[in-house]
Amino acid sequence: MYKQIIRPLLFRFDPEKVHHWSFSGIRILFSLGLGPIIRKMYTIRDPRLEREVFGLKFPNPVGLAAGFDKDARLFRELAGFGFGFIEIGTLTPKPQPGNPKKRLFRLKADQAIINRMGFNNGGVKQAVERLKVPHKVLIGGNIGKNKITPNDEAQSDYLFCLRELYPYVDYFVVNVSSPNTPGLRELQEKEPLTHLLKVLKDSGGQLAKEAGEREKPLLLKIAPDLNESQLTDIVEIIRETGIDGVIATNTTIEREGLRTDKELREQAGGLSGKPLRDRSTEVIRFLAKQSGGAFPIIGVGGIHSPEDALEKIEAGASLVQLWTGFIYEGPGLVRRINQAVLKA
Ligand code: FNR
Repeated sequence: MYKQIIRPLLFRFDPEKVHHWSFSGIRILFSLGLGPIIRKMYTIRDPRLEREVFGLKFPNPVGLAAGFDKDARLFRELAGFGFGFIEIGTLTPKPQPGNPKKRLFRLKADQAIINRMGFNNGGVKQAVERLKVPHKVLIGGNIGKNKITPNDEAQSDYLFCLRELYPYVDYFVVNVSSPNTPGLRELQEKEPLTHLLKVLKDSGGQLAKEAGEREKPLLLKIAPDLNESQLTDIVEIIRETGIDGVIATNTTIEREGLRTDKELREQAGGLSGKPLRDRSTEVIRFLAKQSGGAFPIIGVGGIHSPEDALEKIEAGASLVQLWTGFIYEGPGLVRRINQAVLKA
């Protein structure tokens, strides 16, 4: 029904507007009391789906990737579509509007999206208020820096977000891989990245100690555009800083092999969806091999079918996440992946 009726209707309108309408629609469905029916339709509960990764117990290995519910407005309802975890953010210390619209484009012929949202978000403090509402779903907090913060002060932005969010999320993701904040990806270079991660790891340790809890996992989200030597550096940096794992990958700035018209495919921003699938899997495989499986990897990028998810798991991912595939295939994809994991 999604691909035959809902998607053709939604795809007639501006993607960013549709995203907002979908949030309102989902909220209405839940406020009408349809939550339990939705949950029943999409969620599979089975102990064989449970995964213990970086010390957390996930009810299933399929998560919603960052950028979908940046401001933590709908995470409880979205969890009802069967996700094992939801990653909110990227959040920045201060609210910021992001790039001028139009900034989100569907590349239908390629089953892809280009976005240059630019970390539009209401700031970490607003999100914290929403996260205080009791919930059961595991939440990842994806953190970044404000556009106006120069790179040599980036550390204080990440630290601010870490501290504000600390009691309210289950794991953290350091996002230095978005192509839409000028200069951000320079923070992926060995020296600044090692320093940034060390500082965050120390601070997380301190916060955990003060709270008398175990440390919350700290992950790094990387771009698919890093070469083998840079990926080898990443493995080394993780070993040296002792952070808990990697999310591979963010969107790509590559545009090779696209079928969509030139005007659209050459829009500035990060490309996600099907054309990203193989590169993202390659990155996962490389990291898993190079590290000898020393740390867990969350695999994300171009998962549009259960087979795509299984391929990422086979390449070395412990968990997977979706974004673009959720839009193109509909919410049933989460259930289908979980069914396939059970059969695999
Ligand atoms: C994203 N993604 C993203 N990632 C991140 O770490 N912080 C963010 O704020 C965003 N924002 C965002 C907005 C939009 C519109 C899209 C499409 C994507 C990247 C996302 O989490 C994921 O890594 C990639 O999209 C690749 O996965 P898919 O989309 O191919 O499943």
